[in-house]
Amino acid sequence: MTASPEQRILLIICGGIAAYKTLELIRRLRERGFFVRAVMTEAAQQFLTKLSVESLTESRVFDDLFALTEDSSMGHIELSRDADLLVVVPATADILAKMAHGLAGDLASTLLLATDKKILVAPAMNLRMWLHPAIQRNAAILQKDGVVFVGPEEGDMACGEYGPGRMSEPLAILAAIEQVLASGTRIPLPAHLSHKQEEAGVLAGRRVLVTSGPTQEAIDPVRYIANRSSGKQGHAIAAAAAAVGADVVLVSGPVALADPLGGRTIHVKTAREMLRQVEAALPVDIFIGVAAVADWRAAETAPEKIKKDPKQPLCLTLVENPDILAAMGRRSKDRPALVVGFAAESEQLIENAQAKLMVKNCDMIVANDVSRASGILGGENNKVLILTKKGKESWPWMTKQEVARRLVARLGTMLAETGR
Ligand code: PMT
Repeated sequence: MTASPEQRILLIICGGIAAYKTLELIRRLRERGFFVRAVMTEAAQQFLTKLSVESLTESRVFDDLFALTEDSSMGHIELSRDADLLVVVPATADILAKMAHGLAGDLASTLLLATDKKILVAPAMNLRMWLHPAIQRNAAILQKDGVVFVGPEEGDMACGEYGPGRMSEPLAILAAIEQVLASGTRIPLPAHLSHKQEEAGVLAGRRVLVTSGPTQEAIDPVRYIANRSSGKQGHAIAAAAAAVGADVVLVSGPVALADPLGGRTIHVKTAREMLRQVEAALPVDIFIGVAAVADWRAAETAPEKIKKDPKQPLCLTLVENPDILAAMGRRSKDRPALVVGFAAESEQLIENAQAKLMVKNCDMIVANDVSRASGILGGENNKVLILTKKGKESWPWMTKQEVARRLVARLGTMLAETGR
C-alpha cells in the first residue's frame, strides 16, 4: 500500500536509546510515499543528529519553540495543523507525563497540545519504569484522551534486563500509522464538547469475534505444523469492524502483524487454544472465522527434539483438530446471530464453498482461491466469492482492507435483517 500524496506525518523524536530506530521508520515511511517532518527534543539530540534526520526526511528539523514563533511561515499551530498524524518515537516517560498533564515547556510538548489530530505514541523505557504506577496512570489518561499506543513490546532491553518496555519495531509502528490513518485523522471531541454526535453505524456496540492467522501444532519442542496464512485478511476485518464502532475480539494465531487498533487481541498458538478463547469470548453477535486453522495435529508431541534415524523413515500420526467454525455454526445455546466462515480452496471453489456453508451451518461463506498462482495467501489483495443461503456474488480484485470494509458493511445489513 502506498500513502496518498497528501498524507503527512509529524514525527516527534524524544531522547531514548531506541531513537536510533527512528531512522529506519523514516526510511519506511518515505518508501510508502509519506511526507515526513520531524521535531527533535534536546534529549533526542544526544542520541541522533539533526543532520541524519534532515537527510532522511529531506526536510528541516524543528527543535526550538521560540525560534519557531519568530518564523511567520511555520508557527507551532501550523506545524501541527499541517500534519495528518503526530507520531511520538520513542515515547519516553517524560513526554508521556507532559502529555498526560498538559505541560507545554518545549516545542514537542507544545505541538502535542496544539493539535486536534490523532497522536500515536511508541513507548520505550526500562521495564520497571514502564510498570511504575505513575507511568501506568499517565498511559491510562492518554488512552482515555484518544492517544493511540503501539507497544511497548516485551524483550531484551538496552540496559540488559528482559521485560515489557522495548519500543515496537519500525514495521509494526508503520502498520499502526496506516491503521490510524485509515480510521480518520481527528481526535473525537469529548461528548460534552461535541456539537454533533458521531453517526452510529449499524455495528456500533455490537460484539464481533474474528479469528485470524495460522495455528501452529507442535511436533516436538522445535518443529510444528503450520501454513502460509499471514493474518492480513483477518486482521483487516477486525480493524474494519472496530472502525465502525463494533466491540471486537480478535483471536489470532502467530503472525508478524501489529494488533489491530480499537479492539482486544488474544494471541494463541494451537487450534485447541483458539477454540477455547473463541468459546470464552461468547456471547457475540457475529463470528467471522478467517483463521487458517490446522486441520490436523500430531497425535503426540515428542518431549525432546526428534533425532534423524537413517534406518527408518519418520512416521507421524496425525489426528483431527476441532472445527471451530462448525462448532460455532452448530451451537444450540449462544449461537452468534451471524456465523461467517471462509473457504480457502485450490480447486472447485464454488462446490467446496457451498458444501462448507451447509455442513458447518454458516450464514455466509467467503470463498477465495489459495492456489500459489493467485497470490492471495500471504498477499495484499483478495478476490472473493460471497455465498449465502440466498445466492452467490463475485467481488472484483481489491485490497484485503477493501474486502474487509465491504464485508463489514454487508454484515451490518444482514445483522439488521435478522432483527436481533
Ligand atoms: O491470512 P492471509 O495471508 O491474509 O490469507 C487469508 C486467507 C486465505 C487465510 C483467508 O482469506 C481464508 O481463506 N481463511 C480460511 C482458511 C481456511 O482454513 O480455510 P478452510 O477452507 O480450510 O476452512 C474453512 C473454514 O473453517 C474457515 O473459516 C476456517 O477458519 C474454519 N476452520 C477450519 C478448520 C478447523 N479445524 N477449524 C475451523 O474453524
